[in-house]
Amino acid sequence: MPNAYISGTGFYVPDEVVTNDALAERYGVDTTDEWIVRRTGIEQRRFAPEGTATSDLAVPAVEMALQRAGILKTDIGMIIFATLSPDHCFPGAGVYLQAKLGLTDADVGHFVGCLDVRNQCSGFLYGLATATSMVQSGSVDHVVVVGAELHSAALDLSSSGRDIASLFGDGAGAVIVSATDEDRGVRSWHLGADGRHANALSQKVWDISKRPFIPLNKEGVGQVEPDFMWAHMEGKLVFKNAVERMIGALMKEFQKQNLTIDDVDLFFFHQANLRINQYVAKKLGLPEEKLFHNIERYGNTTAATIPIMLAEAQGEGRLQRGMKVAMVAFGSGFTWGAAIVDW
Ligand code: ACO
Repeated sequence: MPNAYISGTGFYVPDEVVTNDALAERYGVDTTDEWIVRRTGIEQRRFAPEGTATSDLAVPAVEMALQRAGILKTDIGMIIFATLSPDHCFPGAGVYLQAKLGLTDADVGHFVGCLDVRNQCSGFLYGLATATSMVQSGSVDHVVVVGAELHSAALDLSSSGRDIASLFGDGAGAVIVSATDEDRGVRSWHLGADGRHANALSQKVWDISKRPFIPLNKEGVGQVEPDFMWAHMEGKLVFKNAVERMIGALMKEFQKQNLTIDDVDLFFFHQANLRINQYVAKKLGLPEEKLFHNIERYGNTTAATIPIMLAEAQGEGRLQRGMKVAMVAFGSGFTWGAAIVDW
């Protein structure tokens, strides 16, 4: 059975930098820089221009990952696309990305399979676990796992939405998961979910159990009510569960691999709130220099967060061959995941 390792990383963020002050002044959100920084650690985020689709953000991220992996488009056997903000309700964002990258029979001599993952902030780790298993099975040699989000298109900028609007930003990150005979790669992963809290962080832009599933206005035209249009979040419940599940998922992996904190060189925590991560790090006794973070620059980019961090860390030379790396994420669903990788 081959090992599955991360052979390349890439990322892309849109050019527009939106500071907390700009969020208040330019976008009219009833907030302050002081509130956002104190509660979340976020200083700015990126917003994509109108006319951009989520799959557009993924293209340059994947191209960078391919280049860093030193492989060609023709080598790709599968695309796994994690997002909560797909281009359309269906089909998935993966097929749009496939066509934009030119990964069909006419371009590369085969039709690359596409799978979308709808697991929000833990989507990348669900994708990484799936890609790892596919590669280890011997069925495919190189899998693209991409996380991309275009949150700015669906933020409630009114006062009732300011808790969520302050948190999220746009971006994309990608890795290539490749087969190798070398003694390295993804060592283990853990995935979990607790559907009892599915409504605590959700966006019910339609409700398929209702007729009509999008509410109609007086004229009988489909009109989404604000309560359905925007994401709903029970912030304190999410915070409490995030801390608990992230610690639990990491401890499970450490036990499986017989590791201690000292054995791990770099930690990549999902970036939802710097305070969550500081709390988890303190509980685990994790030194600050081992924790990579970029929430201050990008906010929460959901499924894109961990692959963006991996690509940045590699670009900065902080991720070196032979390092032991731990990743953990928690988000809507609730869903969570962790992975241990020998880089
Ligand atoms: N600016 C100014 N004031 C604000 C803002 C804002 N952006 N947002 C909320 N407030 C106000 C509220 O209106 C409230 O005012 P009130 O006391 O007058 O009613 C006050 O601040 C406190 O609001 P809370 O919501 O209770 O604030 P809390 O301390 O819970 O912090 C936060 C909110 C930062 C969102 C926190 O709950 C959190 O980080 N939760 C976890 C978020 C998360 O991890 N999401 C998961 C990932 S997302 C995904 O999976 C898609």
